[in-house]
Amino acid sequence: MLNLKACIFDLDGVIVDTARHHFAAWKELADELGVPFTENDNDRLKGVSRVDSLEYILQKGNLILDSATKIRLMARKNALYLNLAEGTSSNDVLAGILPLMDEMAASNVQIGLGSSSKNARMILDKLNLTSRFNAIVDGNNITLSKPDPEVFLKAAYAMNVTPGECLVFEDAQSGVEAALSGGFMVVGVGDGLEAAHATYASLNGLTLKAIFKQLAPSI
Ligand code: BG6
Ligand code: MG
Repeated sequence: MLNLKACIFDLDGVIVDTARHHFAAWKELADELGVPFTENDNDRLKGVSRVDSLEYILQKGNLILDSATKIRLMARKNALYLNLAEGTSSNDVLAGILPLMDEMAASNVQIGLGSSSKNARMILDKLNLTSRFNAIVDGNNITLSKPDPEVFLKAAYAMNVTPGECLVFEDAQSGVEAALSGGFMVVGVGDGLEAAHATYASLNGLTLKAIFKQLAPSI
């Protein structure tokens, strides 16, 4: 049986539905640049840092821009995102998250955040969730974006646990890849995440116990 000591949550698309705001903001920027940007492109960009996401869009449009312009475009994307995420509140915590966190706390399982976003702390504050976390690692603390495992390894290190003692919750292909390459067990939330040890359409109604049952054959 997995000796579970910590769970590490991705933020956007797992704890809160801000992934749609990232999509809308990138879409608006891509439209302005005349680059086609689809839901499929967005799926590939989930979990990917701001700078790497911009590079992806520029590459798709065969655009070569100087670094000052890239910085301006990233600031613009972030302003669009912040505007959309402005009204985020504790009502926006996705269904199933709070009961799962309660169960973790009651079972002495630590709770960590492993997000690529530099806005993660601000969003957690808006959700009124910050105090629930034993460790928060976000886009400000890492040099390599998912699919590199750095963000999860740093969160595990901060909680004094090994990857094998952690379960990661992810909605992004890049995030599932990051967790697997770091040696973590991973639960995928949403479609197209078959590489994860278990996947669910939503965490609503799930318990750690039920997840363990599902994971049992892979442990
Ligand atoms: C991830 C999102 O959590 O954070 C990505 O899934 C986003 O869509 C990335 O690009 C970086 O976010 P931010 O807020 O630092 O631009
Ligand atoms: Mg995500």
